[in-house]
Amino acid sequence: MAKNSATIHLSEVVGALSFALDITEGQPVGHSLRCCWLGMHIGAQIGLSEGELSDLYYTLLLKDIGCSSNAARICSLYLADDLSFKHSYKMVDNRLPEVLRFLISNTGRNSGMIERLQAMIHIARNGGEIARELIDTRCQRGAEIARTMRFSESVAAGILDLDEHWDGSGQPLGRSGSEISLFGRIALLVQVADVFFMRGGKGAALAEVRSRAGRWFDPQLVGAMEALEDRPTVWTGLTANDLQQLVVQLEPRTLIRDIDEDYLDNIAAGFARVVDAKSPFTAGHSERVALFTDLIADELGYAPDRRRWLRRAALLHDLGKLGVSNTILDKNGRPDSEEWVAIRRHPALGRVILSKIEALKDTADIAGNHHERLDGKGYPYGIDASAINLDTRIVTTADVFDALTADRPYRKAMLVPDAIELMSRDVGTAIDSACFQALQRGLARMNQVAA
Ligand SMILES: [Fe+2]
Ligand SMILES: [Fe+2]
Repeated sequence: MAKNSATIHLSEVVGALSFALDITEGQPVGHSLRCCWLGMHIGAQIGLSEGELSDLYYTLLLKDIGCSSNAARICSLYLADDLSFKHSYKMVDNRLPEVLRFLISNTGRNSGMIERLQAMIHIARNGGEIARELIDTRCQRGAEIARTMRFSESVAAGILDLDEHWDGSGQPLGRSGSEISLFGRIALLVQVADVFFMRGGKGAALAEVRSRAGRWFDPQLVGAMEALEDRPTVWTGLTANDLQQLVVQLEPRTLIRDIDEDYLDNIAAGFARVVDAKSPFTAGHSERVALFTDLIADELGYAPDRRRWLRRAALLHDLGKLGVSNTILDKNGRPDSEEWVAIRRHPALGRVILSKIEALKDTADIAGNHHERLDGKGYPYGIDASAINLDTRIVTTADVFDALTADRPYRKAMLVPDAIELMSRDVGTAIDSACFQALQRGLARMNQVAA
């Protein structure tokens, strides 16, 4: 179980979960933390109050929380790998020729000539509208998820304005100057600064933000960043091994937010929505897996506290999917061998992220093992029944049931009786018998309630 709720700091949980956002954005790990580090120094430099710094802190950590929601659209429009596309796109200034050059070289790299041409024509005709729509989806969704995680309207506004530019050339609303949320302005500045910092260090970051001052960036904020130029600790912090700890210490002391079990549920549900938003084929998946998990656990006599904990683990079981490209997740057909390798990485990736979070690390094994099978033929480790605990078996059963009864890129959803029949063939080899029976009892009970 999670440790005593009074000792859980929100910053630790959100800071660690921000790694999941980095992999969705195709950014080098630690991007969100580095943005938070640099942005907080800028916030202090311009004299923000403690309350403002506290909201800025969470805006910076969560700026990319809507990022998964446009991944599928990027893939279908640009026929591109969403992770590498997003990474490269952040390097591009938005002056037209550069954007066009980028689109031409990144569209349909691995597609046939006709498909590539069609995608290019579509982009050429509707480029502005497409960009606006992508960013709108991302920002709206991000702000909405932040609200469900109980962050303030100022945080939501900062996320919403992340892609607005000082001169009004940004998206989605074309806001300009001080119409743009101050937190959004800082987040955009540090986001670009970090991408260039990771490429060429402090000099590259400063040169880039200077060159976009007054166009993308608020000149006053660029000035504040320039004022940090001779503060070595600001720049060494960005590459420090213990940056996660440093960022935790940056949260305004008097406003440190502790979280209780209810709040931790909200955070888990928020991140489940980030995962589910990545692909149209996984919409609602994590939430439903949590529901079926709870149904099975209840039938198996789990105590309420343990059920709650297991629901949370189920919500986060596919967290590592954020690191898998939509060209693979949404593929209309069976993945090839290389794509399988990428898919099979997601349990281990989820395990790594969750194990970094003190309050959630006891759910890491479930994320890591949810595709293992009792006969040892699962992935990624090939462990067998002797190493798969009941908690994991429950989540696996719920996961398989939801996967079969939801639409997939290569087949329509199965009817419940057909899914149960198919699963019955795997009882004892992939699916635990007691869990399978509990699922059937639980479904029957749900049916009775519904009737
Ligand atoms: Fe999975
Ligand atoms: Fe899943």
